[in-house]
Amino acid sequence: MNKITIAIDGFSSTGKSTVAKRLAKALGYIYVDSGAMYRAVTLYAMQNDLIKKDCFDKQQLIAQLKDIKISFKFNEELGFAEVYLNGQNVEKTIRTLEVSQFVSQVATVSEVREQLVFQQQNLGKDKGVVMDGRDIGTVVFPEAKLKLFMTASAEQRAQRRYDELIERGDDVKFDDVLKNVQSRDHIDSTREDSPLMKAEDAIEVDNSNLNLDEQFELIYNLAKDKI
Ligand code: C5P
Repeated sequence: MNKITIAIDGFSSTGKSTVAKRLAKALGYIYVDSGAMYRAVTLYAMQNDLIKKDCFDKQQLIAQLKDIKISFKFNEELGFAEVYLNGQNVEKTIRTLEVSQFVSQVATVSEVREQLVFQQQNLGKDKGVVMDGRDIGTVVFPEAKLKLFMTASAEQRAQRRYDELIERGDDVKFDDVLKNVQSRDHIDSTREDSPLMKAEDAIEVDNSNLNLDEQFELIYNLAKDKI
């Protein structure tokens, strides 16, 4: 069977990763969560005091980029690949609201993007990949056979993210999650390097009124048409 590249971009917490994981599994493709890579770099910056409340030592982060190794390892039990930062499993730590509050700032740094885009292109070089993020259809795989752009209202997206964080046991307030979703959308869409935008040939999927099964079915059928 002909293997293709599937790029899924969109605003924060549109449920991209949930549907992307399921799609990858159904097609026998690998799934790559590119946001996890930006989150892992952000966690590194936080752990090394390069980023704190009001200060971000961008130059030091750039100087230390060569020391940051990000990898994925498939977890049989979970059914997807978890992200590792310098050999340590950080799958859970990178999803905190604290990391979310800094990640978009880190993602504006061109040197960070360059390193991660190179790695992402390498991970997808053999096709048979579903990758989600903000610039997958525009920058990482502009030639992807299927490009999707996911949207939903900010309130609905914040509610999803809030429910996820509460389920994990994190102590967060809905308003803080909503503010974070809005602020990341703003930074991601207005940054100079690779801003979040719909690729011209992407299909927009507004999932505000679609449940998971409906979203999956829609996207699976779109993929099947291309394979
Ligand atoms: O997908 P997720 O919400 O985990 O992504 C976290 C952040 O990483 C985004 O808000 C964005 O700032 C950055 N990102 C990016 N380009 C990507 C994926 C994520 O700039 N391809």
